[in-house]
Amino acid sequence: MKTNPFSYGVIVTGEDYCPRTSLEKTVRSNFLSGQNMALHGERRIGKTSLITNVAKKLPKKRLVYVDFLFVNNPMDVVERIAQAVLETANASGFLKTAMSAFSSLRPTMSFDPFNGAPTFSLTNTSDSHYTPKTIEEALQTIYSLNEKQNLVVIFDEFQDILRIPQSPEILAKMRSRIQFQSKLSYAFTGSHRSKMEQIFSNPDNPFYKSAMTIAMDPISGDDLWAFLTEKFKKSGIRAASDLRPAIEELKIEATGDIQQLCKMIWDIAAERNLKKADNSLVSPAIEAVFGIEKSGYDDIASSISPSQLKLLKGMAKMGTGNIYSNEFREGSSLISSSTITSACKGLEQRRVIYKKRNVWKIDSPFFRLWLSRI
Ligand SMILES: Nc1ncnc2c1ncn2[C@@H]1O[C@H](COP(=O)(O)OP(=O)(O)O)[C@@H](O)[C@H]1O
Ligand SMILES: [Mg+2]
Repeated sequence: MKTNPFSYGVIVTGEDYCPRTSLEKTVRSNFLSGQNMALHGERRIGKTSLITNVAKKLPKKRLVYVDFLFVNNPMDVVERIAQAVLETANASGFLKTAMSAFSSLRPTMSFDPFNGAPTFSLTNTSDSHYTPKTIEEALQTIYSLNEKQNLVVIFDEFQDILRIPQSPEILAKMRSRIQFQSKLSYAFTGSHRSKMEQIFSNPDNPFYKSAMTIAMDPISGDDLWAFLTEKFKKSGIRAASDLRPAIEELKIEATGDIQQLCKMIWDIAAERNLKKADNSLVSPAIEAVFGIEKSGYDDIASSISPSQLKLLKGMAKMGTGNIYSNEFREGSSLISSSTITSACKGLEQRRVIYKKRNVWKIDSPFFRLWLSRI
């Protein structure tokens, strides 16, 4: 039986990973030379896939991958760091050393009942134990383990540290520790361009200029389409020559979203027993995405303010190029500029829109298409 060759919403590796040669070269050389880096780019553009694929291929290096998404307090931060180190230690045969290095947190190991994978938790749950200083100590523990274990560290979604009320103190402590760890490479990645800039490009922040900044752009159209076309071909359904222009017309930037659309197109082609996927499948594939995502869209639309919804609809229908123009204000029936500004702020906080090179964008291209129709 044919299987759908496209994947989205996961870290991609092996055959599912489209190489990004020049970026990989830069990232690899930074990892090897001990140069810390801050990599930012929009969600689903491929940051985590790129950085983990490169890190896993480094000779004799072991990856500690920490995801800071939605951390709320110092305990979350320490827990994520300790869990990541313990997972690496378990896979690389230095679990005992790592367990004793984190002994004050009283870590325990258990096994996931579904897949048997080891999971780690901390049984020292006293809130008062976890302070910015404990985070600094956790970084010191990584460094002491690095002496024998040769590690590289990824702090993914690093901007979420800013969600924690004590973030200035936390960032100061982290920075003061990391600056003395010259033999260990850190990659800080983040989806929130402006927040990453706030951390790494603002002179008031302790992390200012402490890492090489790499702004990630989408995979080039030709590279991506060579990869997608090959995937179609190998799976027994070819991509017709009119498929690429029909998808490109939708102006979808993130690789993950393009993969999601291709996955739907492939399913429809397989269902109809087609040997070729052409542009006529794009509309039904978008409908299929709406079918899956619609309840999420309804949730957003019903939980935002009327002006936020008007603004989003206006952006989807008229573009985001000039949201303060008379034309846009008339078209969206939003009269005042201050309403537009505060609606943008609210929507940005909910991560429904984001700003790229000073222009607002709706995060999901499918949500944008859905909004343009209601
Ligand atoms: N190099 C790549 N080759 C193919 N698909 C990719 C690549 N990078 C990202 N993707 C697609 O994007 C999705 C999200 O990738 P991910 O690395 O999690 O992005 P990010 O960390 O930027 O949010 C993946 O599931 C996959 O569909
Ligand atoms: Mg990611």
